[in-house]
Amino acid sequence: MRIYSRIKATGSALPDKILTNADLEKMVDTDDKWIQDRTGIKQRHVVVDGETTSTLGTLAAQKSLAKAGMKAADLDLIIVGTTTPDLIFPSTACLIQNALGCPGITAFDVNAACSGSIYALGVADKFIQSGQHKKVLVIGAETLTRMVDWTDRTTCVLFGDGASAIILEASKEPGILSTHLHADGSHGDLLNATVGVSAGLKNEPNGGLKIRMKGNEVFKTAVRTLGKIVTETLKANNMKKADVDWLIPHQANLRIILATAKKLNMSMEQVVVTVDKHGNTSAASVGLALDEAISSGKVKRGEILLLEAFGGGFTWGSALIKY
Ligand code: ACO
Repeated sequence: MRIYSRIKATGSALPDKILTNADLEKMVDTDDKWIQDRTGIKQRHVVVDGETTSTLGTLAAQKSLAKAGMKAADLDLIIVGTTTPDLIFPSTACLIQNALGCPGITAFDVNAACSGSIYALGVADKFIQSGQHKKVLVIGAETLTRMVDWTDRTTCVLFGDGASAIILEASKEPGILSTHLHADGSHGDLLNATVGVSAGLKNEPNGGLKIRMKGNEVFKTAVRTLGKIVTETLKANNMKKADVDWLIPHQANLRIILATAKKLNMSMEQVVVTVDKHGNTSAASVGLALDEAISSGKVKRGEILLLEAFGGGFTWGSALIKY
């Protein structure tokens, strides 16, 4: 009999500090109307000294554990989707495991940029299906603002910090129905951060660490690719568009979300949108939207959720879930 991964509880954490579009108007040549029209973003949360990817991830994890009525010691696996780890090593998953106080269990990071949470969910689902792990904490956590070039108006208005957590439990009842993970490394030039341990740092502020993106081209590929993955996911589950109750997309750009909803013939009433409140939080974003949808009571047990994301790499993926 198939073992399913069921969502037991979710949690999220956003830094207290908020940067509004009006704040950004004072920093670069931009305006609130442009940002809202082109992206749907109104504000983003930004870490301050002392806050890191692992501190945000730990907070989100603690909230999800409290909602699940579980202790960290009940977990047997932690997977963290992040492209902005605190350190090269220990991994962010190891830092969070230590902060939660559950030594000995499996813990590792997955780097798939904005698709990090879907990749982490997909990997977690396979571990649960194998029968080896039963209670898994999946975290998406990012501090992208630590690598934003605050003089580049084409990128700095887009990103924010945050973390989300999903506790999955092995079950005989359907939960995750399928996950679909893809990558195409040939487009690395369109969206990247080109410094690192092995490639080396540059003699520039912050070692040259900054996000570079050809936004327009990324946008077109994202819309096309997400349309295709919707079709792939429904086909794999022998489902129709009308069978999906909720679209819970990566929160990068409202216009990309609108295009994917259109592909599904979905009214925006069935789409969870949180990008206005926190901008693009990369691997944290799908989980932030999911947590909001569950906490607000929008999403109910038994409903079918389609989660999807697209990001640097390029990477993209989806998860079809019976909640
Ligand atoms: N304020 C005002 N004007 C701006 C700003 C700004 N912040 N940024 C760019 N502009 C200008 C440009 O300079 C350009 O001016 P020009 O016509 O005089 O040359 C004009 O606005 C249009 O620029 P475009 O780049 O064509 O604008 P577009 O409509 O494509 O919107 C955006 C840009 C929002 C970045 C969009 O392309 C997008 O969302 N791309 C996808 C982002 C994404 O999904 N990334 C994947 C995940 S990220 C990850 O994995 C880390």
